[in-house]
Amino acid sequence: MVCLGNICRSPLAEGILKSKLNPEQYLVSSSGTSNYHIGNKPDIRSIQTAKAHGIDITDQRAAQFKSDDFQIYDFIYAMDNSNYENIIKLANTQEDKNKVKLILNETHPNKGFDVPDPYYGGDQGFEEVFQMLDEACNVIASRLEKKN
Ligand code: 4NP
Repeated sequence: MVCLGNICRSPLAEGILKSKLNPEQYLVSSSGTSNYHIGNKPDIRSIQTAKAHGIDITDQRAAQFKSDDFQIYDFIYAMDNSNYENIIKLANTQEDKNKVKLILNETHPNKGFDVPDPYYGGDQGFEEVFQMLDEACNVIASRLEKKN
């Protein structure tokens, strides 16, 4: 799960998807395309929104997406088109590029919608982001479970 700062959207996406999958079967992580917040906890508004839905994301720390991540992960979900383009720039092969998806295409196929960046807005923006990501993660989790 990849956004810009790895403090608002992708920490929520990581917490939500983890809550839907068996941790012994799936490695779920998040990062940011920027280096702005490396080592920081998620934004307090993301922590509180997750907590309101029974998900604890307080142990997450922001990291920057790196090209090595293509070797570790099978699927890389970008929160918006700008992050998508920046991840693609770090890909070395077509196989790497094929791993990168826009997360809202899970619920709105081929539409290319962005998860809005809630950083500069109010608390309501975080709840809206949570709902979008929860629906997208339902699609992802049910598809993964069908494979097993
Ligand atoms: P995120 O939100 O990409 O969802 O973590 C942002 C967090 C910080 C900044 C931008 C977006 N920033 O510019 O510091």
